[in-house]
Amino acid sequence: MEIKDFKAQRQQLMASLPEGSVALLFAARECTRSNDTEYHFRQNSDFFYLTGFNEPDALLVLRPGQTPESVIFVRPTDKLAEIWHGRRLGVDAAPEALQLDAAFSVEQMAELLPDLVNGADTLAWLPGQEGYSDEAVSALMATLRGGFRQGRRAPTQQLDLRTQLHEMRLHKSDAEVAVMARAGEISAKAHVRAMQACRPGLFEYQLEAEINHECAMHGARFMAYNSIVGGGDNACILHYTENESQLKDGDLVLIDAGCELEGYAADITRTFPVNGRFSEEQKAIYALVLEAEKTAIAMIKPGVSIKEANDQVLKIMVSGLVELGLLQGEVQELIEQDAHKAFYMHGLGHWIGIDVHDVGDYHTAERTRPLEPGMVLTIEPGLYIGPDAEVDPKWRGIGIRVEDDVLVTEEGHRVLTGDVPKEIDEIEALMAG
Ligand code: GLY
Ligand code: MN
Ligand code: MN
Repeated sequence: MEIKDFKAQRQQLMASLPEGSVALLFAARECTRSNDTEYHFRQNSDFFYLTGFNEPDALLVLRPGQTPESVIFVRPTDKLAEIWHGRRLGVDAAPEALQLDAAFSVEQMAELLPDLVNGADTLAWLPGQEGYSDEAVSALMATLRGGFRQGRRAPTQQLDLRTQLHEMRLHKSDAEVAVMARAGEISAKAHVRAMQACRPGLFEYQLEAEINHECAMHGARFMAYNSIVGGGDNACILHYTENESQLKDGDLVLIDAGCELEGYAADITRTFPVNGRFSEEQKAIYALVLEAEKTAIAMIKPGVSIKEANDQVLKIMVSGLVELGLLQGEVQELIEQDAHKAFYMHGLGHWIGIDVHDVGDYHTAERTRPLEPGMVLTIEPGLYIGPDAEVDPKWRGIGIRVEDDVLVTEEGHRVLTGDVPKEIDEIEALMAG
């Protein structure tokens, strides 16, 4: 993404606001890890979408139709702070670097912000987002309300920006898709490397290290979320991130990992045998999950919903589980009774973008929203047969998910994460090599 792309996003948002609006977007703040050390900084996703700016303690003010129209408050340059903590863009460089009309120091915010908002009818922002922003907006409104003798007028309306902004974020531009496709390619390489490196006796976190290494070597320094590397029973814990067990011969390992590239996420899951060869039981369950995943992906096109794809997934998985003897009964009745939830207890997929679980309305809990070109979603069916499952013990300890990221196009779809094998024979061949 280039700065002009972020500017275009800003302009699109401004064009959607009611007349007489001023919008405020707060950057994230640094977050303490322990004593005086911080977690690595991650920008607020909405602020990033509209600026491409990656420093904490900033505020973007958008004043459509006014001069200056786009204003940012940033940390001032400070020789001592920069020697200790790192470079800052600073006030003087910010307007050109970020293609904004004006910049001021955050230290002048209390003094200057009321005048930038004064007279607006509507204050647009995202209530309840960053911990400190609600307080900042209350203080601003109090200042404006208290300043009527100085000719100040507080906005009479407040608008939650989520509706406009998150609808925009849900529909990806070509520039965003290009970054996400690259994030998908890099993450696919990382999964291939993990398959090649895997062997019994390795610790899960050591396989995680292979993933991190490959992503970093291709330019993605961070992962989009905490990677899940779960061997055996651990694969049945949906958000298992301890990654601290030793991988056992004969078990499967499930890896759910995707890099963050230029602020955008990838999200891939593959499941494969620790020793490189699937057992008969593992093959049988894997084949079901894979057929479900491929069928769902094949359905993705404008007008279809996640729910419709999931309905097909349920038919495939429940019929298969009945055939294998893991469920008993009539397929449609079992689906109506939610019998599958014993083994498939999550949804089929989610929007993905700057956030791995990205923003955007699904219309209903069942995700009935018809897909449109430019949306990107994951498809990730799974079957998890835990150690306590009431089934023939030979099935226990099999947890399988297969997950890809899919762009909806005018013609249908494009898989952004297709460069990592998922067919049984492909995986075995790769691991044997
Ligand atoms: N990695 C989280 C998910 O697949 O939704
Ligand atoms: Mn995932
Ligand atoms: Mn996912």
